[in-house]
Amino acid sequence: MSTPPAQPRSPGRTVIRGGLVITASDEMHADLLIEQGKIVALAAHGSDVAAGWSAERELDATDKYVLPGGVDAHTHMDFPFGGTFSSDDFETGTRAAAWGGTTTIVDFAVQSRGHALREGLDAWHAKADARCAIDYGFHMILSDVNDGTLKEMDLLVEEGVSSFKLFMAYPGVFYSDDGRILRAMQRSAGNGGLVMMHAENGIAIDVLVEQALEAGRSDPRYHGEVRRTLLEAEATHRAIQLARVAGAPLYVVHVSAEEAVAELAGARDKGLPVFGETCPQYLFLSTDNLAEPDFEGAKYVCSTPLRPKEHQESLWRGLRTNDLQVVSTDHCPFCFNGQKELGRGDFSKIPNGMPGVEHRMDLLHQAVVEGHITRRRWIEIACATPARMFGLYPKKGTLAPGADADVVLYDPKAEQTLSVDTHHMNVDYSAYEGKRITGRVDTVLSRGELVLDGRQYVGRAGHGQYVPRGTCQLLD
Ligand code: URP
Ligand code: ZN
Ligand code: ZN
Repeated sequence: MSTPPAQPRSPGRTVIRGGLVITASDEMHADLLIEQGKIVALAAHGSDVAAGWSAERELDATDKYVLPGGVDAHTHMDFPFGGTFSSDDFETGTRAAAWGGTTTIVDFAVQSRGHALREGLDAWHAKADARCAIDYGFHMILSDVNDGTLKEMDLLVEEGVSSFKLFMAYPGVFYSDDGRILRAMQRSAGNGGLVMMHAENGIAIDVLVEQALEAGRSDPRYHGEVRRTLLEAEATHRAIQLARVAGAPLYVVHVSAEEAVAELAGARDKGLPVFGETCPQYLFLSTDNLAEPDFEGAKYVCSTPLRPKEHQESLWRGLRTNDLQVVSTDHCPFCFNGQKELGRGDFSKIPNGMPGVEHRMDLLHQAVVEGHITRRRWIEIACATPARMFGLYPKKGTLAPGADADVVLYDPKAEQTLSVDTHHMNVDYSAYEGKRITGRVDTVLSRGELVLDGRQYVGRAGHGQYVPRGTCQLLD
């Protein structure tokens, strides 16, 4: 039997007192007043204004950080890949996200080849509807760029699906050639959409895959070897040039290679509207994991692949210098048993993707503790900028009057060890098994409703609402 929550889940007014409020721009000891699911006011802790607030619910944030809820702009719940589906659906995946302090996800609806965008979008709405613990939006994966789908892009932007993922990888599945990519970019230049690029030269990679398998190199580590850094850099360069020709902005997803960061930095130095995202797995894991024996490396198969450790410093630097702007998870979990195992004896059949939606805020706090980034930069790359990039700001991504009351009380001193035994994602392993983290999410509110209350889950499937998005807010 579960213990009833200590506080009403959704009272009229809530006050959060005594914490250190951290946004992308400020840190201050402030109290927060919430009403009707929105932040109404912030006032200095101990001020007469804050002392005068009364509320049905008071949350004590003494010795805690008060943060905007995390915005994870790259997840794949219930996602078809390699003959199977990612093991978190919208219910389990958004619950796990909430445990980790993320209160908004932007997931990828998929257009199947030969089908309309609308069909794909409807299917993803049906998967998510009434199942989510936190709010969610959609990007659209374009698998088939043609006259019909180009027209549909305009309609989707208007109704709040304002970003489109294209793949230079995965020939025969999601792959688009340069002509199709250029046409989609031209369309997005006209309709305000943002093209998100999976930048790897999939045609060349497939040749290397075939050659590796012919030579008997079938273990998971060869996934990393054939997906060469140069082929990520080359595709990143090509995507940037195509976006220039189209006069369109570009967002490159899951950047992992130092050489790709250099391409983005060079483009940004020229003043081009080019953006980059990386993910915790590239910051904390490496090809050493892919090389783990007894097929354990399969747990770390994702694309772009994990890189040698030496690449991590350039990713951290890119995050500090703003050559990379966003950290998302690319959460796409597949169980080791029964799913990753599909690729025993042939690494190219291992479903690509890793679990992580629950750990992003903690891993990035660990990066603060270790001195890679500041506290405000943590909030910028995990909350504010993803919200701005994908047209959700200031409803999401900050703590300010008028914003949704998506709030995290974070205990910066708590110690935890990540493990499959304690995580909430629906997957049978942890990519971070045994990793020690300083800091832990304590309490989470989504639109003023408690989802996590002092490490007790009090959320519910169906609380999360679909959020239509505006266009990218980082363009002049
Ligand atoms: O390996 C990955 N990243 N799987 C999810 C699909 C994608 O390319 O983002
Ligand atoms: Zn991708
Ligand atoms: Zn992805």
